[in-house]
Amino acid sequence: MNSKLAAGQGECLVSVDLGDRSYPIHIGTEATGRFAAALKESLVDISHALVIYDAAVQSWATHLVDQIDQDSIRINQSAVPSGEPSKSIEQYAALLNWMLESGADRRSVIIAVGGGVIGDLAGFAAASFARGIRFVQVPTTLLAMVDSSVGGKTGINLAAAKNMVGAFWQPDLVWADTQSMETLPERSYLSGLAEVVKYGVIDDPPFFDWLAANASALVARDPAAMRYAIEQSCLSKARVVNEDERETSGRRAILNYGHTFAHAIEATAGYGTLLHGEAVSIGMQMAASLAIGLGRCDQDLLDRQTDLLTACQLPITFPQADIDAMLPVMMRDKKVAHGKLRFILPNKIGSVQLVGDIASADVCRAIEAHR
Ligand code: GLY
Repeated sequence: MNSKLAAGQGECLVSVDLGDRSYPIHIGTEATGRFAAALKESLVDISHALVIYDAAVQSWATHLVDQIDQDSIRINQSAVPSGEPSKSIEQYAALLNWMLESGADRRSVIIAVGGGVIGDLAGFAAASFARGIRFVQVPTTLLAMVDSSVGGKTGINLAAAKNMVGAFWQPDLVWADTQSMETLPERSYLSGLAEVVKYGVIDDPPFFDWLAANASALVARDPAAMRYAIEQSCLSKARVVNEDERETSGRRAILNYGHTFAHAIEATAGYGTLLHGEAVSIGMQMAASLAIGLGRCDQDLLDRQTDLLTACQLPITFPQADIDAMLPVMMRDKKVAHGKLRFILPNKIGSVQLVGDIASADVCRAIEAHR
């Protein structure tokens, strides 16, 4: 992964190296002026772009589209309502029909502007329309910049199961501009920091130390601090995706550190009570306590993680946690094997493992420790 490619002033470039599916991630601040050039560099022969954007970031989508020379690239635009309900079969079908009516063909390019919902939905439309067309991710939330826009997971929800229908479909370009987060609500921005902290714990001790020293700059949304944190997070994610693009070896599962607890918290507390990143923050605390209980790591890891999450103004406990309701949800998690719970557990900062055969009593103790 190369972060030393040619980049504009104050801009970083991370490359996701996946052979003929490789692509650059541009990370900048007020860099939109270079968007059209990056588009032409990364995608040859664009003559038609379909811009699919979250209705909440319409002005950012317009700002971006204004950079494109519309004499050479025909543009169609479609707003999608904000929120998880848009990852539905109905919204997906509506987009495909709109693409057809817009004259899309195999040379058309989708540009997805928004957070994880838009990236997943528009990415899946790109993966499936005409058996797959090119697409560009323009993430506008911190969570999407450091996680969902990178790595090629796309998909929609069924009524009873999140992300149940989808495809691995890599973008051709990711364009992350911190200026697009100016209108992002505080809670949503801070929740994205949980995924940033995750990379420090699972993969990168120096980055963990940097985060501990720079948490206040990140909370204050210092542009240089944000760019560095996004760059290091994308480098970590690119490393993991490079080793296990389609999640077949188990390596990619490490990105789910804290997520088994988090999904159970989200499902039982009612979706919307906590933001995803907030649940991940609490979930990482529970996972660290579980690791300590199993003698896999020492208390110091939990203490350092607690300090960092607290400095990022993230929740570290969930007093309403309903253990009896959470356990059955965890048993349905993708990481359950033959009825035994499996978790991503840390052994030291920068190193985690998929651990199987965990007794539910140990899991209950870990949840209890953070109620
Ligand atoms: N967000 C987890 C993954 O991309 O694998």
